[in-house]
Amino acid sequence: MNFSRPVTSLLADPWTRISGMPTASQPAAPVAPEAALRAAAKPLSGLKHHQQETFELRLHRWWPDLSEGLRAVYPTEVADTLALRLVKLAAKAFADRDPELARLDARRTLEPDWFQHPRMLGYATYADRFAGDLTGVRKKIDYLKELGVTYLHLMPVLQPREGDNDGGYAIADYRSIRTDLGTFKDLRKLSSALRKEGISLVLDLVLNHVAAEHTWAEQARAGDANKRQYFYLYPDRAIPDAYERTLPEVFPDFAPGNFTWDEDLQSWVWTTFNSWQWDVNWTNPEVFAEYADLVLFLANAGVEVLRLDAIAFLWKRLGTNSQNQPEVHAITQALKAIVRIACPATIFKAEAIVGPADLVHYFGTGVHHAKVSDLAYHNTLMVQLWSMLAAGDVTLAAQALRALPPTPTTTAWITYLRCHDDIGWAIDDLDAAAVGLDGFEHRRFLSDYFSGAFSGSPADGLVFQANPDTGDRRISGTTAGLIGLQKARQDYDPEAVQQALQKELLAHALVFGWGGIPVVWMGDELGLPNDPAWAEEPGHASDNRWTHRPAMPWARAALREDPDTVEGWLFRAIADLAATRAGLPHLHASVPAQILPVHDNGVLPVLRRHPVGDLLGLYNVTGEWRPYPLSVLDGLGLGDPVDAITGDTPNRGEDGNLWLPPYAAHWLVAGS
Ligand code: GLC
Repeated sequence: MNFSRPVTSLLADPWTRISGMPTASQPAAPVAPEAALRAAAKPLSGLKHHQQETFELRLHRWWPDLSEGLRAVYPTEVADTLALRLVKLAAKAFADRDPELARLDARRTLEPDWFQHPRMLGYATYADRFAGDLTGVRKKIDYLKELGVTYLHLMPVLQPREGDNDGGYAIADYRSIRTDLGTFKDLRKLSSALRKEGISLVLDLVLNHVAAEHTWAEQARAGDANKRQYFYLYPDRAIPDAYERTLPEVFPDFAPGNFTWDEDLQSWVWTTFNSWQWDVNWTNPEVFAEYADLVLFLANAGVEVLRLDAIAFLWKRLGTNSQNQPEVHAITQALKAIVRIACPATIFKAEAIVGPADLVHYFGTGVHHAKVSDLAYHNTLMVQLWSMLAAGDVTLAAQALRALPPTPTTTAWITYLRCHDDIGWAIDDLDAAAVGLDGFEHRRFLSDYFSGAFSGSPADGLVFQANPDTGDRRISGTTAGLIGLQKARQDYDPEAVQQALQKELLAHALVFGWGGIPVVWMGDELGLPNDPAWAEEPGHASDNRWTHRPAMPWARAALREDPDTVEGWLFRAIADLAATRAGLPHLHASVPAQILPVHDNGVLPVLRRHPVGDLLGLYNVTGEWRPYPLSVLDGLGLGDPVDAITGDTPNRGEDGNLWLPPYAAHWLVAGS
């Protein structure tokens, strides 16, 4: 292939007039990768032969994914022209790639399962609340290493709108960093410093909406016809009302409805989240090209994992809830193909907090198998974990987790106890009914329990977005706030503190022992309580999720050195768990977690069958001793097991049972 040939007319930009967008007609002949290579010729012309060859090989490998992904969404001719334009963008990004990152691409191509390895441990935080700014974060890398972190998710760092901005999820400028946090130069420096220490930087890419102050929105308001087509605008309520019939509300409390009237535009704007977060129109291929370019831009700044924020909402369809539409997966596939061509060290994480049946598609099923996101949040595990702790019963969790469809072996779950968001009780009514529960009643119980309204509950959560129409009450609060540690410490009750700590360890053990990347939400490693002053910062008062987003109290963090403090005990316990995990190949994410039959309703048995041997996780979610039959262990070839967490032999009763202490977690492997 001669890369120095001149760029052809295929590169002419046909998207400046999208109003004349072709409609689906006769499928045109597929565009051959050769045409795509011609499109790439100019940007690649200055590169060495082996680099050009690398690009060519990748292009051949991933072209079908790109082409088919786009053709599934756009009319054929539109898709084909867009594909060539994207290849040109990819070639440019490839040519501009920093040598350190190009080397990482090569390394990751040799180790494509890098993110599935049990050494992975995530940490998620706001840069400013953790360490002031990006330079401050760089200075705290040692702290992260002490915990065993290999993946750092910094909450939105790109320039948001002024004032309330949904924790940074209302982006006004994707190409600059929040002024108080630093610059792109600081970000590159940080990503490089992290990489040297084996930590991958994770950043958000907000794909579904921009701030009403973003230039696209401003240009649309100023009358730019092209930019109007970046959004969903309606002159009257006819279409919005038709959609509203089947759309849920994300923030019924402070942002009811899904459309906002804009005076300048004389239109209703689609705003799924807040009125100042404008949904972008992915049916417009121009929007696709903008985001593909942003993906490449962020990857070249050293971002190794892109968290695709609110991805479920990208495609709208009348008569549906406009979530999880098949086009979302085709779009992701095409974006992924671009990344695989230009910067394969970067991977995708889907932020789709949706029901299990919809969730699994974000990993890629059917034609999208292993072609979309590499990571996705295990919302079901998170919700069921809290449900088990509240009910002291694993029956529902076993049912729901067992019902999850299999995921591609090349992907990994993000497992977690808490994140920056509230907890919505995603309990499936059918799962509940299958174990004799009423889904609505159980959700009500969980909201009561975790807001502390349920008699005897040790939890101190806050109700978020109570929706009188659906009865939903989501919950905010830190792990310590929800698990009872906060209350136990306030009450000066040493026994309750002990029990809460044991529960914390159990919860972390389940999350760390599932397989995938466990992500610790900042402060949980120290047992930080809810922030009582959450409402005081400007723009926060209506959003109590800020109660579990405290600033890092570094004086308190210093207590981690002292094992006799709660902070010291918890930090050590979590760091030890991470270190133990890193040495257990059984926890590689390619191996599925299977729920075994439940013998005692207080004990969740999770089996991981790996060629190196089995690992049986046993989790007692009650405050009492509970049994597990030794015969099951014998059957698995784990007749003489060791608990990998403690290194001890578990308690064998004379009655043929293994006995688990209150809130105990065991990772049983064959003794040597
Ligand atoms: C995601 C974020 C959440 C935000 C929403 C809108 O769900 O996690 O914090 O409110 O997207 O961007």
